[in-house]
Amino acid sequence: MTERREDASNPDVGGARRRVYIKTYGCQMNVYDSQRMSDALAKDGYEPTEVIEDADLVLLNTCHIREKAAEKVYSELGRIRLLKAERAEQGREMRVGVAGCVAQAEGQEILARAPAVDLVIGPQTYHRLPEALARVAAGEKVVETDYAVEDKFDHLPTAEEKRIRARGVTAFLTVQEGCDKFCTFCVVPYTRGAEVSRPLARIVEEARRLAASGVREVTLLGQNVNAWSGEDEAGRPVGLGGLLHRLARIEGIARLRYTTSHPRDMDDELIAAHRDLDILMPYLHLPVQSGSDKVLKAMNRRHDAAEYLRLIERIRAARGDIALSGDFIVGFPGESDADFEDTMRLVSEVGYASAFSFKYSPRPGTPGAAMDDHVSEAVKAGRLERLQALIRDQQTAFAASLVGTTMDVLIEKPGRYAHQLVGRSPYLQPVVLSSESGAVGDMVRVEIAATLPNSLMAQGADAPSRRTA
Ligand code: 5AD
Ligand code: SF4
Repeated sequence: MTERREDASNPDVGGARRRVYIKTYGCQMNVYDSQRMSDALAKDGYEPTEVIEDADLVLLNTCHIREKAAEKVYSELGRIRLLKAERAEQGREMRVGVAGCVAQAEGQEILARAPAVDLVIGPQTYHRLPEALARVAAGEKVVETDYAVEDKFDHLPTAEEKRIRARGVTAFLTVQEGCDKFCTFCVVPYTRGAEVSRPLARIVEEARRLAASGVREVTLLGQNVNAWSGEDEAGRPVGLGGLLHRLARIEGIARLRYTTSHPRDMDDELIAAHRDLDILMPYLHLPVQSGSDKVLKAMNRRHDAAEYLRLIERIRAARGDIALSGDFIVGFPGESDADFEDTMRLVSEVGYASAFSFKYSPRPGTPGAAMDDHVSEAVKAGRLERLQALIRDQQTAFAASLVGTTMDVLIEKPGRYAHQLVGRSPYLQPVVLSSESGAVGDMVRVEIAATLPNSLMAQGADAPSRRTA
């Protein structure tokens, strides 16, 4: 069983199945990409494993958005180097690949810094993964970071699609990639390239396939998802609102979400979709990054704080029960105490159900990194602490406001105890339910009885459902 074949296209000879361990960093787009890479590798005879020591191939799907995320990859590669050496001593090989945005941004440099790496592959070239691995097997060190024009996942053969196992009741679906916005802090336009929308027919096809495999909730993904544009079956131009209408008609799909959006691309059609489609969850991630007009301008966000607040008003007018989440950066170059207070004020005014906040991290090659007036780490840390405390309070208040209300919950998995199940609220909170409420995949209506630190408890969830006397 330990025999390993060098021929990447025919791994099954001799009965030796190969194992791939994929570690995913960063955003949901990477989660989606890792799943598709795993599917593509299944065709080459690779089984996924959760145990890195067992892997014949280790793939790190990396994130470059902040320095911390990128540095984590190098420390992980340090550990993998030791593992690889141990395996080599046992006469077994372990190939190591770096995928994702660090691969795209740093390319060849990774090979110089981490000699254990055999393959560097950027997000635009994942369809070349099997071929790249064959070259690695032949002894080459491979760097694939070109921009390809083809759809990187168009190459999944149909026969293989059938073998793809159902992956639970929720799934991501990439509809758009890349970004043309060039916010001055952000590496995405450089690592993920220009904005590209997947054609409507392909998206509908993938959504149908997901629904057929038991998926009930689909989250449309894109770095700038609401900039998605395409044509309907009759050749008329449609935006994301139109796409959501089209997907809402697919049998089996009970919930739709999309992320991440830019305020500038929230058009009337999309806002109206929140009014007209019950299947579209009333929860919107709409990052604003800062509440200061001066900082927003320096960030090249191309809107001011008042415009964002007006937009929120229009969205709330369309869908009264919508809850909002956002992203914030503190300590962007030039951010004064007064600018930061503007951010605090904006957060207070909007009232978020949840939000992510980060210290500004200068990224090589972005305009922000070259700006004057960088803010000290200590000041960034102080501001982050205050902002996060405010956001935490809002999140707690939002969860508390749900106690006593009834809501639809999609059951996702068994709970920690036999008498419990775990589902998702419309606002993405985990909800603990009684096992008598239904089965995995069911949408059930429950009353919220209490809040836990990171989840909600439905009425009756804490009592064992079948008592034996
Ligand atoms: N520093 C800190 N945070 C950043 N983000 C993006 N780039 C940076 C950076 N250089 C944050 C933004 C974005 C989220 C995904 O990550 O808030 O919305
Ligand atoms: Fe980055 Fe701005 Fe594009 Fe979002 S909109 S991916 S923050 S450049």
